[in-house]
This record gives sequence, structure tokens and C-alpha cells, in this order.
Amino acid sequence: MSFSMRDKLLQQLGIEVPVICGPMYPGSNPELVAAVSEAGGMGVVQPISMTHIYKHDFREGLRLIKSLTDKPFGVNFTLMDGVKVYEQRNRQWMEIAIEEGVKFFLTSLGNPKPIVKVAREHGITVYHDVTTRSFAQKAVDAGVDGLNCVNNRAGGQTGQVSPEQILEELGDLAVPLVCAGGVGDEHDFKRMLDAGYAGVQLGTRFLATTECQVPDDYKQAIVDHGEDDIVWTNKLAGTFSSVIRTPDMEKLGLRTGPITSRLLKNRRTKKLTRMLLLLRSTQRYKKVALNPGYAQYWQAGKGIGHIQAVESAGDVVRRFAGEL
Ligand SMILES: Cc1cc2nc3c(=O)[nH]c(=O)nc-3n(C[C@H](O)[C@H](O)[C@H](O)COP(=O)(O)O)c2cc1C
Repeated sequence: MSFSMRDKLLQQLGIEVPVICGPMYPGSNPELVAAVSEAGGMGVVQPISMTHIYKHDFREGLRLIKSLTDKPFGVNFTLMDGVKVYEQRNRQWMEIAIEEGVKFFLTSLGNPKPIVKVAREHGITVYHDVTTRSFAQKAVDAGVDGLNCVNNRAGGQTGQVSPEQILEELGDLAVPLVCAGGVGDEHDFKRMLDAGYAGVQLGTRFLATTECQVPDDYKQAIVDHGEDDIVWTNKLAGTFSSVIRTPDMEKLGLRTGPITSRLLKNRRTKKLTRMLLLLRSTQRYKKVALNPGYAQYWQAGKGIGHIQAVESAGDVVRRFAGEL
């Protein structure tokens, strides 16, 4: 069952190794995306990273990836339903991605149904990020081809339950399930495949690579820190995200103050408050990405303990492939 789901994933994505380099703000520079795809995995573009941090015109960034590899890569869309500026920008990016021949969309938040409709017309595969059964069921009903199961070990915004638990909750859904979170090395990868996942999505492991353009002190911190150094904060995005406990992070604090917390709980103010926090953290992460030594606001997941060196992304993918 899980073997055939792995085959299905490989066939849908047109790749050789069931390893996805997840979208990262910061981290998803085109050279990293291309290196993962070139080695047989699936690199995924984070459009805001591409345009705001790495300063590529969106189409030119996609073309840069295509100049570095002939293999497939994907584009991530964070769906902010009802927020006109975001919807319009996503629509523009999507049209360009289609024109440039992208065949894999990875969606997060929001309702993927309108994206699935467009994707079907162009032979594009859509996977959607989920953290719970109810979101997963909605995404499958909307017609997505696979689910990216974000667990509580993930870097960036986390899920609520362990990789094993979410697999148990979603195991009967008839689409490939990807383990997103906590995979640091090839042994973690093998364990997740043996547990029944069709593939894995990694973020933290690919930050500590030669192709990734985050500052060197961030990469070295990933090598030097262990699982116990990972903490959750809701100060950066309103929902919980995993970061390395650094003196700068401690100074910023890990929880919003009482007023913001109240606004985050209120049904009417929740969405706007989250968006404002997200906008502020977008600026913070941009400074972190572009100015080494600015502040140690370093997102990373619990797979960090199994990351021993900064390596090339291609070597990471090839070592994982050795476990198949
Ligand atoms: C620095 C960083 C930034 C991230 N930014 C995004 C993002 O902008 N959009 C998104 O969908 N996921 C984002 N993620 C999540 C990753 O795509 C991926 O699912 C996650 O890192 C997997 O967990 P791992 O870090 O334990 O491997 C980010 C993760 C990290 C570490």
C-alpha cells in the first residue's frame, strides 16, 4: 500500500527520490531549488522569498532555475482567502508559473479548490499542507492529489501532533501522504517511509547546505544545536513556529503579550492580528536573511539534532536515495 503510494507520488511529481525541499522564507533561493531537483528530488519555490529576499523578478527567477536544471520543480502558494491583494498577486504568479511550464503546485492555508480547478486544465499536480483530519478531508474533497502532513517537529509554522499520529489519522485517505517535519538525516527518512509515508518534505536540513543563501552563522547554528534547543513561539506569526532558542529570541520573548493574545483569540480580530504579526516577521526575517549578525531569529525544526555538517543539497538527496 505505502509502496504504491510512493510510486504514485514519484509519478505525479515526475521525480526519482521522494524528497521535497519545502518552500522557505527565508531560504528558498533559486539555486537551492534547482540543486534539489537536479539531484532527483523536488525543489519548491517560495514566491515571496524569490521576489522580496532574493530580488528576482518572478518569471526571471523561474527561468534561472530552468537554466540550472531540466528537471521538474514546484511553486508554493500561500492562500489568503478574501484578502484581495494576496489573491491578485497569487493569480499573477500562478499565470507566470503555468506559462513557464511548472507542473507542481504546493498550497498552504486557505481553500485549494480554485487552484485545483486551474491546475486540472494545465496538467498540474496539487499537494496541500494540512495539520488536522478536518483540513485534510476538505482538501481531498477539493480534489488535491496529495497531502503534505505538517507535524509538531517541523521548522517554520508547526503542526500540533507527531508524525506518527497524523499518519494514523489520515492513513485511510486515498492520496499520497508526505511527512513534513523533523527529518534530519537519511535514517529519519527511512523510518518515515517504513511507517507508511509516501515521501518527506524537508526544510531545516536544506538550510544547512552550500546552495542555500541564508547567512553562514544560521547554517552553523543548525549544525551546532540539538533537538532540545528548539522552542515554539507565537510572536512571529500569531500561530506557533519552531525556532532555535538563542539569546535574541529569549529577549524578544516566546509568547505574545496579553492584548495581542486577546486579539488573536477573538473571532473578529484574529485574522487581521495574524496578518499584522506576519507582516512584521516578514520584515524581520528579511533582515536576518540579508544581514549576517543582525539578530538570531532562526527558524528550525527538531530534526536539527541529526544534521552534522553543511553539505551540498545534491549530496543530501543522493544519500537519502541510498536508503531506497
Ligand atoms: C526557515 C523556514 C522557513 C519556512 N517558510 C515557509 C514558508 O514560507 N511557507 C511554507 O509553506 N512553509 C515554510 N516552511 C516549512 C517548510 O516548507 C517545511 O515544511 C518544514 O521546514 C519541514 O520541517 P523541517 O524543517 O523539520 O524539515 C519554512 C521552514 C523553515 C525552516
